Amino acid sequence: MKEKTKNNIYTAFVGEAKAYFRLLAYAEKAREEDVPQIAMLFRAIAEAERIHATRCLGLLKEMMVKDTDTNLAKSFKSEQTVSENAYPEFLKVAEEEGENAAATVFSHARDAETFHAKLYERAIYQVIRDEVSEYQVCQVCGYVTSKNAPDTCPVCGAPKDKFKSVN
Ligand SMILES: [Fe+2]
Ligand SMILES: [Fe+2]
Repeated sequence: MKEKTKNNIYTAFVGEAKAYFRLLAYAEKAREEDVPQIAMLFRAIAEAERIHATRCLGLLKEMMVKDTDTNLAKSFKSEQTVSENAYPEFLKVAEEEGENAAATVFSHARDAETFHAKLYERAIYQVIRDEVSEYQVCQVCGYVTSKNAPDTCPVCGAPKDKFKSVN
């Protein structure tokens, strides 16, 4: 693919993916404001933006989606980078600025990403092959475990019923 078009597709992918989440937040706000028709409109357009993002990703597959071994290695590296560099730095700034809500989100994300990295590492070394029947994901902080949902999340302290199973 030609360079400029490839970059434009990537830009479109990021924009559409962001729009998807932003529109769902708008829909939620409209629901709170008791304008369900508008909430529905935002949800419908969000769904359409999700389709655009997915189509752009489809065009980028050769660039972004490799074989599974490569994807695992890349995902492991990326979790390591965000948990060791990006989030600690974000957390430090949030604490310096007294932004407590942001500090909590960043510290939870940093800790959850560390666990994500461990899960990828185990998968890379094939420790878990054929052993896991489902994963449990904390819906508050994004902590993921291959074991049963804990009574309280080790990252954010959320109770067991905040876990969602993924299989
Ligand atoms: Fe992660
Ligand atoms: Fe959690």
